[in-house]
Amino acid sequence: MTLSVDEVTSRAGTAAELRAAELVVYPARSGDRGPALLRGVSMTARPAGVTGLIGPNGAGKTTLLRSLAGLQPISSGEVLLGARPLHRVPRRQRARLLALLQQQAETELPLAVLDVVLLGRIPHRGRWQPVGDRDTTVAAQALRAVGMESFAERRWASLSGGERQRVQLARALAQQPEVLLLDEPTNHLDLRAQWEILALARDSGRTVIAALHDLNLAAAFCDHLVVLEHGTVAAAGPPAEILSAGLVEQVYGVRPEVLHTAAGRPVFAPPAP
Ligand SMILES: Nc1ncnc2c1ncn2[C@@H]1O[C@H](COP(=O)(O)OP(=O)(O)OP(=O)(O)O)[C@@H](O)[C@H]1O
Ligand SMILES: [Mg+2]
Repeated sequence: MTLSVDEVTSRAGTAAELRAAELVVYPARSGDRGPALLRGVSMTARPAGVTGLIGPNGAGKTTLLRSLAGLQPISSGEVLLGARPLHRVPRRQRARLLALLQQQAETELPLAVLDVVLLGRIPHRGRWQPVGDRDTTVAAQALRAVGMESFAERRWASLSGGERQRVQLARALAQQPEVLLLDEPTNHLDLRAQWEILALARDSGRTVIAALHDLNLAAAFCDHLVVLEHGTVAAAGPPAEILSAGLVEQVYGVRPEVLHTAAGRPVFAPPAP
C-alpha cells in the first residue's frame, strides 16, 4: 500500500468538528420500542483528528456511527458538523460531507472494483449525469491510496476479505468527505495493512471516527477515545489517560496486563495463565 498525499487523501484545513449531543436511539421497527440502543450519548470528534470508538460487542458503536452518518433515525439529541445540524442537511449533500465504511461489506455486487469505488462519486454528480473524467481520476487516486490500483478491473466478488476492506475504504475516500466514519476498518487486514490504513486515515486531513476492537491500535493511532458500554459513554479522553487495566476490567470484564512502549503508550496483553 502506498501513502499518497493527492486530493483524495489530503484536504487539510477543510475538516470540521463533529459533535453528537445527548443522542437517544431506539431499535428500528421495534413495536414496543424496547430498550434504547443509545441512551444520551454525547461526544466530540476534533477536526483532522482520529477519534476511536471502543467497547464490547453490542455496546452501540455501529449504531452511533450510523446515527452520525444520518442512516439511523434518532429519537432525540442532535449531530452537528461545525455549526451545521446534520438532520437539516439534505441527504445528497450529507453524503458529500460524511462517508461511512460499513462493518460488513456486501458480498454479491456484480461489479468491477473500479465501479465499486465509483459508487462513492454518486453524491458529486447530477442525478442523471454519467461518470466523468474527474470521477474516474478521483476513483483511481483512491484505489492507489489503498494499494489496490492493480485490481481496478477485477470482479468485486473475486476479492479476498482484506482486499474488499481496502476497496471499501477507497470508495469512502473517493467520496471526498470532510468526515470519515470507519466501522472496524482493520477487519480482515494483515498487520501491515492495519497500520497503513489507520496511518492513511490519520494523515488524511479529515475528521475520522473509527470503531476499533484492538486497544493497542486504538492507543497507537487515536488521539481521542470514546468508550461505549450498554449504549452510554463509560469514559472519554486521550488514550494514555483513560486506558487502564481498571477501565478494561470494568468495561470488558477481563483484567489485562498493561505494558508500556518506550514512548509511554499502553499495550494490552492477556494475563499470564
Ligand atoms: N433492530 C434492532 N432491534 C433490537 N436490537 C437491536 C436492533 N439493532 C441493533 N440492536 C442491538 O443494539 C445493540 C448495539 O448494536 P451495535 O451494532 O451498535 O453494537 P456494536 O458496538 O457495533 O457491536 P459489535 O462490536 O459487535 O459490532 C446490540 O445489542 C444489537 O443487538
Ligand atoms: Mg459494530
